[in-house]
Amino acid sequence: MGNKSIALLLATTSAVFFVFGALIGVYVIEENKKTFVTLDVKPLLIDEISAEKISANLKHLTSVPHVAGTEQDLLQAEWVRDRFLESGLDEAHTVPYDVLLSYPRHGVVNTVELIDEKNQANFTTAGRQPPLGTPQDSYDKVLMNFNAYSGNGIVEGNIVYAHYGRDVDYEELQKRGVNVTGHIVLVRYGALFRGSKVVIAAKWGAIGVILFTDPMDKAREGRNFTFPDSWWLPGMGVESGSLYVVDGDPLTPFYPAIESAFRLKEEEQVNLPRIPVQPIGYDEAEILLRSMSCENPAPQEWDGLLDTPYCLGPKPLNPGWKVRINVSTTNEMRRTYNTIGILRGSVEEDRYVLLGNHRDAWTFGALDPSSGTASMIEVVRALGYIMKNKNWRPRRTMVFCSWGAEEFGLIGSYEWTQQFAKVLSQRAVAYLNVDVAVGGNQTLRGSAYPMLKNLLIESSKLVPNPNAAEIAAGRNTVFDTWAKNAPDANKPGQPAVGNMGGGSDFAPFAYVVGAPTTDFGYTAEYSYPTYHTLYDNYQLASEIVDRGFVHHQAVARMWAITAADIADATVLPFDIKSYAAFLNDSLNALEDKYDEQLQQNNATFKYFRASVDSFSKATKDFSEKTLATVNVEDPLEVRRVNDRLVQLERFFIDPKGLPDRPETNHIVFSVSANNAYGSDTFAGLVDLLFQVGNKTEAQDPVTWNKIRQHLSVIAFLIGEAARSLSDNLW
Ligand SMILES: *[C@@H]1O[C@H](CO)[C@@H](O)[C@H](O)[C@H]1NC(C)=O
Ligand SMILES: *[C@@H]1O[C@H](CO)[C@@H](O)[C@H](O)[C@H]1NC(C)=O
Ligand SMILES: *[C@@H]1O[C@H](CO)[C@@H](O)[C@H](O)[C@H]1NC(C)=O
Ligand SMILES: *[C@@H]1O[C@H](CO)[C@@H](O)[C@H](O)[C@H]1NC(C)=O
Ligand SMILES: *[C@@H]1O[C@H](CO)[C@@H](O)[C@H](O)[C@H]1NC(C)=O
Ligand SMILES: *[C@@H]1O[C@H](CO)[C@@H](O)[C@H](O)[C@H]1NC(C)=O
Ligand SMILES: *[C@@H]1O[C@H](CO)[C@@H](O)[C@H](O)[C@H]1NC(C)=O
Ligand SMILES: *[C@@H]1O[C@H](CO)[C@@H](O)[C@H](O)[C@H]1NC(C)=O
Ligand SMILES: [Zn+2]
Repeated sequence: MGNKSIALLLATTSAVFFVFGALIGVYVIEENKKTFVTLDVKPLLIDEISAEKISANLKHLTSVPHVAGTEQDLLQAEWVRDRFLESGLDEAHTVPYDVLLSYPRHGVVNTVELIDEKNQANFTTAGRQPPLGTPQDSYDKVLMNFNAYSGNGIVEGNIVYAHYGRDVDYEELQKRGVNVTGHIVLVRYGALFRGSKVVIAAKWGAIGVILFTDPMDKAREGRNFTFPDSWWLPGMGVESGSLYVVDGDPLTPFYPAIESAFRLKEEEQVNLPRIPVQPIGYDEAEILLRSMSCENPAPQEWDGLLDTPYCLGPKPLNPGWKVRINVSTTNEMRRTYNTIGILRGSVEEDRYVLLGNHRDAWTFGALDPSSGTASMIEVVRALGYIMKNKNWRPRRTMVFCSWGAEEFGLIGSYEWTQQFAKVLSQRAVAYLNVDVAVGGNQTLRGSAYPMLKNLLIESSKLVPNPNAAEIAAGRNTVFDTWAKNAPDANKPGQPAVGNMGGGSDFAPFAYVVGAPTTDFGYTAEYSYPTYHTLYDNYQLASEIVDRGFVHHQAVARMWAITAADIADATVLPFDIKSYAAFLNDSLNALEDKYDEQLQQNNATFKYFRASVDSFSKATKDFSEKTLATVNVEDPLEVRRVNDRLVQLERFFIDPKGLPDRPETNHIVFSVSANNAYGSDTFAGLVDLLFQVGNKTEAQDPVTWNKIRQHLSVIAFLIGEAARSLSDNLW
């Protein structure tokens, strides 16, 4: 009890931080030496985590659709809370936020229709997906097909096929004399975020968007071999999904959607789509394609696997025919819930290692996201069991987060991190995300901030291989299969750990908090084809993708031991030298590509280079001198080096955001705005260089000025990160 109030005080006064840190450290250690044992908990966790228990969790979670903001949001949030408490967590709470969500009108189908010359409907899309495979009692609770935040209303026009709907696709259309202004575009899922497709379509003048998944992308073994015979997408399977291109509650940008919040009016949020958008099945897309005249055949690379020529339009085959989109989807204020569970640390109660996964799904959500939720509940149970039976507790506090409304735009996690941003930026050590725990059964894949990459690799060496064929081939661990399937080109024998982008709940921890994060799961060459459809259900998980739930078990084990490693280590296992090597490699690549151009335009990599060099030196010194000699018996010294490590990632956050993108602020790892072109490292710089193209300073002084300014910010922040590792302010 006493500890907790001191910890709170600490947060408020950074000047006395170290002094109290020392006092509290000594006090707690001595207190707890009597109470808790230290042990290597990793083998115990690996033993304890059960595939059957994950399967049972998943069965419950997938028994009903659980869309954010519906009755099931609360019921499942409470169910997860109760599992947490039953497993022995110290606390678990449901945390509500009132946010802008979006739903089709109850009992009304959104439709796309072919209208003949007499204004009669010749064909109308079904608007919902037929049940296939094992019957599900709660099929009636599944929402009609829709895209969240679609514009509402009716539009009529002719259709233009716009391939993946990227800018390059519209440029190609323009080259071929097709102007989409005033028309409806038919766009394939894939290649870029669906919300960006709508932004681009509207920019080029389209009045509505029809989205479909081509069998070439998601039914590669033919249209007859689909769910439930295989994992491939059936012809009436429809991918739902959000169209909102910014993350967090649309009405409370930058701030939490709590009771006192000031809310924008819906029409003030410029990032909400205005045109109607409707997703349909590929059987239906085929009928629309057949209604088009083929005076203008599509480029060959635009062809898919439908049984009809792909034509550009807009001319219909039959004169006077049109297409009508009728969308009833409306935005509504609804309540969504996070569930937050807490396991208090024995020594550093005010340092948090967080694990998270979202809970909401578009339908039954077996793989996305319930495979992760079912696994997290089992991780918590195993930890609780070991706590009870071995008299163990982690050194640091572990926090378990089950997020609401991720699917609408990372809303639950953004609102929570926005609410607790200041405290989290002092106390959050790392955030470990698992969204889709199992999206395939071939190999682990993972991405991480450089400081955590090694840790992920080391964890994978401890987890037994879940795949019998792989074991027969001599690959006994998750690591062995991962290294084989995703080899690191620069490090023979090692798997490549990806870099963090956006797209799941780690984003607010990276951007709002500035904490190192990771995201991983089992997958195949590509992720499962029935993503965001009705067919992402228990049958898919238990009979097709992971019979025996052994891949789920492997991911849960990875998650538990990686978290336990960070939570329990005396000195944090963060690999800062790899961060330096990574920055150096990235800068080398930038220099190779742009150095000459910069020099010709009165800009330079000189200061960027100097800051990376000093970061390299600082991380080397810190690793080889400070960390190598730290006295682990001295709580003040331990706290001091750990604080440096915890804070390091925060330095890469520019509070003003990237150039022209205030909501995107990590100078190294933000996602490029030019989705189709850009690299994801130093996105602010790369985007500006893309924007300026081959224009000189004289031709585009404004952009060149922004380039110089951003280069100076990069050099400054990396230099300060380097300095933070030393003992000196100056
Ligand atoms: C739709 O149009 C086709 C071709 O004109 C015609 O054969 C078919 O009967 C029409 N179907 C309906 C339901 O109007
Ligand atoms: C496309 O059509 C619209 C409306 O007819 C017109 O305003 C616009 O200039 C056209 N764009 C091009 C590039 O021809
Ligand atoms: C696919 O199924 C349809 C209907 O059952 C059948 O007519 C067709 O021959 C099948 N195609 C292939 C390639 O098996
Ligand atoms: C649009 O759909 C609504 C709901 O089904 C229906 O009431 C309305 O008549 C439709 N409008 C048109 C023009 O088809
Ligand atoms: C692995 O997934 C594939 C589908 O990609 C499936 O055919 C196969 O049966 C699965 N294996 C296991 C053990 O579940
Ligand atoms: C950074 O990269 C350059 C060019 O490859 C290399 O010469 C230098 O040694 C690297 N610095 C560090 C600290 O690795
Ligand atoms: C080059 O940039 C610097 C600031 O970065 C500025 O002081 C100088 O005037 C610029 N020179 C030219 C020729 O634009
Ligand atoms: C510069 O870019 C323009 C437009 O992208 C292009 O037409 C031109 O050929 C480029 N010039 C050089 C020297 O690359
Ligand atoms: Zn997900």
